[in-house]
Amino acid sequence: MQLCLGCQIWDLTTLPTRDAPVNDTLLEPTPEPLFNPMSPEVIADPYPYYHRLREADPVHRSPLGFFVASRHADVAHVLRDKRFGKDFVGRMVRRFGDKIMEEPVYRSMSHWMLQQDPPDHTRLRGLVVKAFTARRVEDMRPRIQEIVDATLDRVEAQGRMDLIADFAFRLPVTVICEMLGIPKGEHEMFFHGARTGGRLLDPVPLSRAEIDEANAGSLAQAEYFHALFELRRRQPGEDLTSQLVQAEEQGAKLSNEELTANIILLFGAGHETTVNLIGNGLLALYRNPDQLQRLQRNPSLIGNAIEEFLRYDSSVQLTGRTALEDVEVGGTPVAKGESVLCLLGAANRDPAAYPDPDRLDITRPNIRPLSFGGGIHFCLGAQLARIEGEIAIATLLRRLPNLRVDDPEHADWRQTFVLRGLNRLPASW
Ligand code: HEM
Repeated sequence: MQLCLGCQIWDLTTLPTRDAPVNDTLLEPTPEPLFNPMSPEVIADPYPYYHRLREADPVHRSPLGFFVASRHADVAHVLRDKRFGKDFVGRMVRRFGDKIMEEPVYRSMSHWMLQQDPPDHTRLRGLVVKAFTARRVEDMRPRIQEIVDATLDRVEAQGRMDLIADFAFRLPVTVICEMLGIPKGEHEMFFHGARTGGRLLDPVPLSRAEIDEANAGSLAQAEYFHALFELRRRQPGEDLTSQLVQAEEQGAKLSNEELTANIILLFGAGHETTVNLIGNGLLALYRNPDQLQRLQRNPSLIGNAIEEFLRYDSSVQLTGRTALEDVEVGGTPVAKGESVLCLLGAANRDPAAYPDPDRLDITRPNIRPLSFGGGIHFCLGAQLARIEGEIAIATLLRRLPNLRVDDPEHADWRQTFVLRGLNRLPASW
């Protein structure tokens, strides 16, 4: 069962896939497009390309049919300006025709709070926001510490591990499973299942075969979560699923389709993003031994280091908005109905916002990365992700001080653009 649709939550709905020939023609108008998110060179190191784009054409009209914003000020503006929204159904129908909304996977996505505009967005977010308040996630610290310690206990005697599969992956998956009230015996399935969803990480525009696969994945998820809803109706707990099932039973607040779709969203959103915060952060540290030593000497820098990891190499590289009326971005007119891709990763390296932006500096002051988005869709799990990242990286450095990453200069990147992360990061001690 493929249960990782986290990839599908981001506004990738306009990007080409690497191996869907039907879309390659879109890249032909310029021999070397200013923005080609599926090129392996760009995936390996997007930052020189971002600098080129920001300098040459900061609000770039891509031949792919959307604008691409790469300056910090423009990205922050688009994310927060109420004249932009998601208009998910409108965007999909304009691009792919009416029939697209008959596809189960797109129908499900259309109910995600991430794809909704007010008032539905406000209602859906309001139902779950309490579980993610700073206070509630602070209270999760001891449990998060326990999970990290247990993860290291499993591997400590081996002397080596893959920092992604054996370490980074287990924490966010366990945490979101527990938050959703998924029975303990079923967590193991997700450790494996989620890593096999790679094909779905570059979902759009999907070929017919890819849509069929995505539909099958979406229906399998719905089936799994319907069984979970039944369980939590019979045996309610303190978890989010029990809370949402009760809200659904009270009628007006939440339809069954919305319930299912938003549990799928929460489940997916908590996965790969945080795994990659930990993975990309560790890679950045081991590529910059001076910063590693600094953090080892002064572990209290971990909070600021996490902000810097988020800025330096964000695990989410872009999100998007649609203009709900005619508007200007950085002096460029954007007509109603046009989409703007916001390059979060480029904004985070904008020299206008951060001096010497390509340098990793865990003591950098005033870091406010755009990695969690902004405006009304600001990441619900931001504080949770930060705490998971802090505890995971701090504990690893404390318990395995001699850990060495085998080959930090030759990183094995997953061939996805929006979700930026590593396939593997072998290390020994
Ligand atoms: C480092 C880890 C993470 C990163 C970089 C990240 C990034 C983001 C971004 C950029 C958005 C906004 C997208 C937009 O504006 O269109 C977002 C929204 C969201 N994130 Fe995260 N996320 C992370 C972890 C998590 C976790 C752990 C959860 C939950 C367990 C989560 C749940 C959500 C949800 C539900 C939304 C939609 C909020 C809304 O539409 O109001 N995220 N995330």
